[in-house]
Amino acid sequence: MIYEKITSRRTIRKYVRKNIPKNVFIKCVDAARLSPSSMNLQPLKYMIVDDQRLLEKVFLTLKWAGYLPDYHPSKEEMPSGYIVILLDKDIRKSYGVDPGIAAMSISMVAYEEELGSCILGAIDKPKLRRILNLPENLEIILVVALGYPAENPIVDRVKDGDIKYWLDSDQVLHVPKRDLEDILKWNEY
Ligand SMILES: Cc1cc2nc3c(=O)[nH]c(=O)nc-3n(C[C@H](O)[C@H](O)[C@H](O)COP(=O)(O)O)c2cc1C
Repeated sequence: MIYEKITSRRTIRKYVRKNIPKNVFIKCVDAARLSPSSMNLQPLKYMIVDDQRLLEKVFLTLKWAGYLPDYHPSKEEMPSGYIVILLDKDIRKSYGVDPGIAAMSISMVAYEEELGSCILGAIDKPKLRRILNLPENLEIILVVALGYPAENPIVDRVKDGDIKYWLDSDQVLHVPKRDLEDILKWNEY
């Protein structure tokens, strides 16, 4: 079950307009809260954004699909919410891999709740800081965009080393993944 969920999840960048129930946001953050944390320091804080007045402002701070400059949600396809992953620098100065683990927990719980998600690192952080009115000690690390999917990307094999996702003539997104034999060795090289 977990294997099927993890392998069938794809990044979703286009969404239908439908509100996400509050309890689903909270369930996602609760899963992040209980995720592994280096030295169990738990330096991450979370901010949920679902206020209609803020959604478009946050949207404009994000850079979508770097390999496909024309492939991004239109205003009608915007996410219905965001979970912003923050580092509390009063607890830890550097963040290691905790935010990635938290982002994956959020994405998987969202997926189980039939939501699509996109983890974003390409953020205009100074602008987002101002929009969210963040205190000094909190640093923006990642944004997880959430919404009900309006696209259905598919996995492909990497051909000739090219890992860039691409659109076919029906506007379906193909996401190349490296084959197991290219990434896996047993016991020694
Ligand atoms: C740490 C991290 C940062 C990412 N940042 C962005 C981003 O800024 N914009 C974006 O559109 N996608 C972003 N992605 C999504 C990746 O592009 C996506 O995971 C990748 O293309 C593989 O697709 P898949 O998630 O469907 O397997 C990010 C993913 C990760 C893990």
